[in-house]
Amino acid sequence: MKVLVTGGAGYIGSHTTLRLLQAGYDVVVLDNLVNSSRESVLRVEHLTGRPVDFRKLDLLDARGVDQLLAEGGFEAVIHFAGLKAVAESVEKPLRYYENNIVGTLNLLNAMEAHAVRQLVFSSSATVYGASGEMPLIEKAPLDATNPYGRTKEQIEDILSDLCAADHRWSIALLRYFNPVGAHESGIIGEDPSGTPNNLLPFIAQVAVGRREKVIVFGNDYATDDGTGVRDYIHVMDLAAGHLAALGHLADKNGVFRWNLGTGQGSSVLEVIETFGLVVGKPIPFQFAARRSGDAAISYADPSAALADLGWSAHRDLRQMCEDHWRWQRKNPLGYES
Ligand code: NAD
Ligand code: UFG
Repeated sequence: MKVLVTGGAGYIGSHTTLRLLQAGYDVVVLDNLVNSSRESVLRVEHLTGRPVDFRKLDLLDARGVDQLLAEGGFEAVIHFAGLKAVAESVEKPLRYYENNIVGTLNLLNAMEAHAVRQLVFSSSATVYGASGEMPLIEKAPLDATNPYGRTKEQIEDILSDLCAADHRWSIALLRYFNPVGAHESGIIGEDPSGTPNNLLPFIAQVAVGRREKVIVFGNDYATDDGTGVRDYIHVMDLAAGHLAALGHLADKNGVFRWNLGTGQGSSVLEVIETFGLVVGKPIPFQFAARRSGDAAISYADPSAALADLGWSAHRDLRQMCEDHWRWQRKNPLGYES
C-alpha cells in the first residue's frame, strides 16, 4: 500500500515514515525542507533498509501537488507539513494562514481530483485553548489562542465540512499533546533550527553544552511545584498512533478526532530533574516570568484512542529523556553533526 507523507522529513514525519516502512507500506515523502533536512530521510532509509521516494515540493505549488497525486497508486495521505512556531505565527500570521491553510487546500483539491480520500491530519492539543477542564476530552470546546493554533482549528473545520459534504472521505484528526524523544537508535530525532521554542530540545542543548541553562517560564502556577504541567508523549508512541489511525480509516468513512497523549502530566521541574538523572548531572535552570499564552496545565484523556484504535502510549518520561538524550549526544549539532 502506497502512502503519501507530507512533511515527512520533519520531526514527527520522519519517525512515522520509519514505522510505515517497517510495517511494509511504500512511502512517498513530500517536503519543501523549510524546517528540515534531506538527511533525516536518508537516515530513515538507512535504518529500515528500504527506499523512500522523496519529492522536494512545496504544498503551495498547487500544480506540482496535483501532478504528484496524478501519478496514481496512493491509498492514503498523512499530512504533517505545516509551520508550527507559535511566537512566529503571532508575528507573521499571513505566512501561517497561507502555508498551513492554502497548503492543505491544495492537497485536498489534488486528493479529490485523483480520488484519494483517506487522510490523517496533524492537529494539536493547542486547539483546546488555555482554560479547559482536565483531562481534555475530544468533545471539549475548541478555543485556539494564537494564529498557529487557529490554523489547526480552521483546518479541522474544513476537513469536517468535507466529510459532511461527501461521505466517501475518511479523515482522522489527531490532536497531539507534547511530542518528545527520538527513535531508540539515536540516529533520527528533533533538530530545531535556531533557539528551541520547546522544553525538551532546550534542556537537551543545555545538557550537551550548547546553552548555559534552562529558563523556566513561571513558578507561580497553581500546580504542585508552581511550574507548567504538560502531557509529554514519546514520538515513537505517536508514530504508532498514526499507523493505528490509518488502519481504522481503511474501512470506515467520516471524520474522527483522537487525542494522542499519555494521560499523565509532568511539570517543567520534573522533566528537568528526570533529564538530569539520565545525563548523570543536574541541569542548571533559572526561573523567569511566565511565557505569554501558556496554560498552567494540559493533559489528555486518551481513552477514545484506546477504545477505537486499541492504541495507547507505552513509554514513560524516563524513556523519553533517555532517547532524546541519546539522539542529542550522538548528534550535538543535529543533522549537521
Ligand atoms: P517539523 O517542522 O519538524 O515538520 C514539518 C515539516 O513540514 C517540515 O519538514 C517542513 O519542512 C515541512 N513543511 C512545512 N511547510 C511546508 C510546505 N508548504 N510544503 C512542504 N513541506 C512543508 O514539525 P513536527 O514537529 O514534525 O510537526 C509535524 C506536524 O505536527 C505539524 O503540522 C505540526 O503543526 C504538528 N504538531 C506538532 C507538535 C509538536 O510539538 N512538534 C505538536 C502538535 C502538532
Ligand atoms: N518551558 C519552559 N522553558 C522553555 C520552554 C518551555 O519553562 O524554554 C515550559 C513552558 O512554559 C510549558 C512547558 O515548558 O510549561 C512546555 O512548553 P513547550 O514549549 O515545550 O510546549 P507547549 O505545551 O507550550 O506547546 C507545544 C507545541 C505547540 C503544541 C502544544 C500541544 O509547541 O505547538 O505543545 O501539542 F500545540
